Parts: sequence; structure tokens; C-alpha cells
Amino acid sequence: MSRKIITIFSFFVLLSFNLQAEDGHDLWLRGKGTNSVNVICSKKSPTLSIAMQELQQGWQRNANEKIELVVKSDKAIKGDGFRIGKNRIQANTDIGILYGVYELMRRQQTGENIHEEVCNPSYERRILNHWDNLDGTIERGYAGSSIFWRKGKDSLTVTYTDKQLWQEYARANASIGINGSVLNNVNASPSILTADYLKKTKEIADVLRPYGIRTYLSVNFASPQVIGGLKTSDPLNSEVAQWWKNKVKEIYSLIPDFGGFLVKANSEGQPGPQDFGRTHADGANMLADALSPFGGMVMWRAFIYNPSDEDRAKQAYSEFMPMDGQFRDNVIIQVKNGPIDFQPREPFSPLFGAMKKTSVMPELQITQEYLGQSVHLVYLATMWEEFLKSDTYQEGKGSTVARCTDGSIFPQKHTAIAGVSNIGSDVNWCGHPFAQSNWYAFGRLAWNNSLSSEQIADEWIKLTFADYSGKIDTQNSIFSADWQVNFLQPVKQMMLNSREAAVNYMMPLGLHHLFAADHHYGPGPWWAPTGVRKDWTSPYYHKADSIGIGFDRTATGSNAVSQYQEPLQSMFSNSQTCPDIYLLWVHHLPWNFIMKDGQTLWDELCYHYDKGVRQVRDFQKTWDQVQRYVDAERFSQVQIKLREQCMNAQVWKDACLLYFRQFSKMPFPNDMERPVNNLEDLIKKDEQSRK
Ligand code: GCU
Repeated sequence: MSRKIITIFSFFVLLSFNLQAEDGHDLWLRGKGTNSVNVICSKKSPTLSIAMQELQQGWQRNANEKIELVVKSDKAIKGDGFRIGKNRIQANTDIGILYGVYELMRRQQTGENIHEEVCNPSYERRILNHWDNLDGTIERGYAGSSIFWRKGKDSLTVTYTDKQLWQEYARANASIGINGSVLNNVNASPSILTADYLKKTKEIADVLRPYGIRTYLSVNFASPQVIGGLKTSDPLNSEVAQWWKNKVKEIYSLIPDFGGFLVKANSEGQPGPQDFGRTHADGANMLADALSPFGGMVMWRAFIYNPSDEDRAKQAYSEFMPMDGQFRDNVIIQVKNGPIDFQPREPFSPLFGAMKKTSVMPELQITQEYLGQSVHLVYLATMWEEFLKSDTYQEGKGSTVARCTDGSIFPQKHTAIAGVSNIGSDVNWCGHPFAQSNWYAFGRLAWNNSLSSEQIADEWIKLTFADYSGKIDTQNSIFSADWQVNFLQPVKQMMLNSREAAVNYMMPLGLHHLFAADHHYGPGPWWAPTGVRKDWTSPYYHKADSIGIGFDRTATGSNAVSQYQEPLQSMFSNSQTCPDIYLLWVHHLPWNFIMKDGQTLWDELCYHYDKGVRQVRDFQKTWDQVQRYVDAERFSQVQIKLREQCMNAQVWKDACLLYFRQFSKMPFPNDMERPVNNLEDLIKKDEQSRK
């Protein structure tokens, strides 16, 4: 090695040793103050104390600058929005001030300009849904166990450590504008409404409150029978209605700002009003009436489907549309972004914009159930941006999902958005260091649904990886050109490409739900054991046969396209105009169908899978090249996970292409990398893993 190379090498080694190991627990809140600040605030409250403390601990501009916090109504400020200026934050509410402080701190740390402006939230309620079970496990959780619940004899005790963790959780959420938490799984245990669990819920709510976070609970519709000893849970039975009224009163006596209930009813085995011959509206309204005197809400989920002959993608719309206008004002229908489930890609659910007389809220999934869980690096904001900006055409061009749900188009009484959380007891909260970006992005989009995924990634990378160790300078030149060119840019690009890469190696061209079994992780296009509901198997969705592949949802098939407004209906229906990204979601097409770029469908499919694998290999190279900018701990965590992702991507490609080739009987394109696994081995391995 030449002397020059050795010198350069030692420089980089030293540089990376200098970066302190980080376990990721501080999330995007790593910035430390460098100077003191003079905070003036005429009012006192626990929330304002937090705001003052945040400024004092995190101030990075000139020493002893003055900053004024002013709680004063202003018509331009909506809800808990704020007016921010260089040395003044004004809001209608205390929590608005705290949000303004977090905005100011974020801008200091990312070097963004601060000029006087009003920032208002897109949605009134910005809520995390925790699918946490009372025994501490988390449904579709990949980052340890619940931070709220645990099993065992101390399951109901609350320790100092618990409270500390809840406070850190609340602070992280408040810093991105999240103002609600549903603390338990939608597959709800009736026990959550027993006195002991409500007492614990109160303790949690007390910690979250100063950070502006309201507590909500998922409830089991059969609770009156299971814990109340009633003979029925029929929503039209007066004893049942009274039982809920009493229960709600009990809850509000403990938690005066309780947010309300989230309900999964008559879905995947959960009880609901239909068990008693009643409608979803009957069930939701009965709960709404109990909550209404206290200002509580019902978030009633539209995620319902039966093992019937009707295309699963159509069922929520068929069920809910006839009830439009029948729900109470304090009911909001919570609709998953796609009509099936949280697939790597689906068109938006046709309920958005279609239910015009009912409040509707989007439900996104932050936990990566179908997107590589906590192993794959997949930045979801690009998917959410695609969804929020999708035009429903329901009230003419420009009726995007965002505008149909945030009150811009319909005068809905309440606006809200929910994200299924990816948080657990892991030190870094989310399992994968990059999964934190999805929590962050959800909050940022819930606050401002027109932000771009690129801007959010930019912010997050700066806050999460910048070396803040006392080097902040006041001229806004926080980040060196070298850091921006050689770290920020490539890492951002990797994040922005990551969702499309996952779609490519898992389910390109509109394919969906090709998972092996219920784990929803690895591939299983073959998976269809006898006795399992058809709509839980893969062939139900891909319908590969000797002629072609894809689910015909046009008028010749299930006609799910008829649920979309024109011009979408016509555009989807015609295979020549249907966007490639949804092609096999809408059409069953011959293997030799000629695509827009002149390739056959089969070749196109092969190239997508191949590309997906190559994209992940590129991510590995990108990450290796940024080593000197990342502390050793997080660097190696991500490096190891990328290796596994790469192996998984290869398995996805091989499994799907080798399986589908049995039907297409067409050769792989010459310039495609060949599979390295055998189909029989993959199937066998998959079967064994389930034994
Ligand atoms: C998916 C997920 C379930 C979850 C359900 C829901 O189907 O796999 O675990 O309960 O969604 O959203 O209710």
C-alpha cells in the first residue's frame, strides 16, 4: 500500500471511530443544544413547560437569543397549528406552541429557513394504532414486545421505567405532530374494558397528555356479553346500549380527554352487529351515542370481507356505500389505503371520495407486514405519497385522496388519519434503523399531507445521521458539501428507490398477495392448502394458468373497476391504457401480451423481478460506500440487514419466476440473471418452516 493510501485509509478509520456508537434510541431527536436561550412565556402549563425545556436543552443558534411563546387566538391558525417566526411562536393552544417549538428545533437542525409563516395540520386527528395484545405480544410487530402491556403477575403494575419509556414515546410522537394513540390491537380482547386495564390505561394517558396525545382504545363488540354478563350484544337492545353508556362514563371519569373507540367488527372472525342481524351503521351509532356527551369518537373500520364469491377487493365498497349518510357525526369510517390489504402496491380504495356524506379517514400501515418486516429497508413515504396524491375524480379532476379526506372537498365533521405502528420494546423502537423513517414520515404526512417523500427523507436523514457533536454553526452551513454529496444524496436516493425495488422483487405489474402462509413475509405463489379460505391463498390473486396471469376485475371479470369514478373506470378497463403498475391487478392477460414498451408480458415480468434484485445489490454498495459517515453500530446493523434482504429478494424472484414459468412455458430472456434456487427446494423449505 502506498503511503498516500495508508494516510487516507487511517483518516477514514479515525473518522469513523470518532463517530460515537449509537443504538438508535434517540430516533430523530439527537440534536443537542449548544447555547442558552432566553424563553419568554406568560402562561404556565405542563405542556408549555415541556416547550420551554425543549428550547433550553436544544438551542443551537446564538447564545442568549430571545424567543417568545404566545398563546393567543388567531383566525389564520387552525386547531393546534401555529405561527412561527425567528423569535416568536404563536398558537391558539398550548400544544400548538409545543408543535411550533419542535418545528423550530427541526429547522435549526436541518438548516431550513425560518421566516414568518402559519403551519396548520392537514388532519385534526393524527393517530397511531398499536396492534398490541394485552399479553405483550404485538400482532404484525417486528421490533420486540409491547411498550404498554405485558403478561405475568406484574402485568398491571406501572414502574418508573414504564413511565419513562412512555414519556420518550410521547415526546417522539409530539415532535412530529401525532396526537392520538390507540393502545391495543384491533382484534381486541374484551378485558381491556375491565376496571384493572382501564386503571392502567389511565396511567398511560396521564403520561401522554402533556404531549398532546389523546388515548383511544380498540373495543370488542361482544364486550357486553363477555365481561358485562349480558345475554346479547345486540346494538339495538337497550340494556346493551346502557352497558356501553356506563362503560364510557367510567372511562371518562378516569380519562377526561379520552379520544374514543376503534372497532373492527364482523371482520376476520371478530364479533359485530351483523351477528345480531344489524348493520355496521347500527353498531357504530350505538357506540357513538354513548361517546357523544363526552366528545368521544368512533373509528369504525371498513376492513371487512367474507369468504363469499364476491371479489374481496369489492366487498368493503359494496357493504359501506349503501350506508353513506347513515352514520352519526362522531363516527368516522377508517379505510385502509388499498381495497385488499396493505399490499406492496394496490390502487387506492374506491371508498375514498365516494362516501360523500360520511367522515372517512385513511389507515396506513407503518409496520412492514407485507414489505419485508424489520429486515428489508423499505421507505414507505413514497407509497403514501402515491396514495394521497391519487386522483379519485369524485368531484372532478384534482379530487385527490388527500383532499377527499382532509376536509378540503367534503365538509366532514372530523378529519383523521391512522397509521399501524411499528414500535416495540427494541432499543431502537422499530427493529430496522431505517424503519424509524416510516414512523417519522407518517407523522409528517399526517401533519402536512402535501409534503413530498423526498423532503421527508431529507429531513429524516439529517436528523438521524448528521454528526451534531458540537459542530453546529449559525450560518446554516451545518452540513459539509462532502457530507451532502457523498452521504445525504446517495442514502436519500436509496430510500426513495426502496419501495419500488420491493415491488419489483415481490409483486410487480399489479400482482398482489403472493405470500406463503400467514406470516406474510416470504414468497408462496403456490400456497393454497386444502381447507384454507380461498381468499387467503395466492392463486386466488394471481390466477396464473396456461393462457396468462392476473385477476380480471374488468366487466368480463369481477367488475371491481366499476367502483371507480370515470375516467379511472375506462382507463383501468382497457389493457392499453391501464397503468403498468396496476395491470395484473385489473387484467388477466396472455403471457405473450405486448406491453407498452414492446416486450412480452412474460419478459417484462422477468425483467422486473431481475431489476428488484439488482436494486437491492446496489443498496448494499451504496451503504458500504457511506461507512465513514455512520457510527459503527448502526452501520453494521444496516449492512447485515441488507445482506438478508438481498438473499430474500433473490428467493422472491426465483420462487415467482420458476413457479410462473410452469404456466408460461416461455424461456427467460437471455440478458436476465438466472435463478440460483430450485423451485422444489423453495417449496419444501417453506413447508418445513411451517411445521
Ligand atoms: C391483516 C393482518 C391481520 C390484521 C388485519 C386487520 O389481515 O394480517 O393481522 O388483524 O389485517 O387489519 O384487521
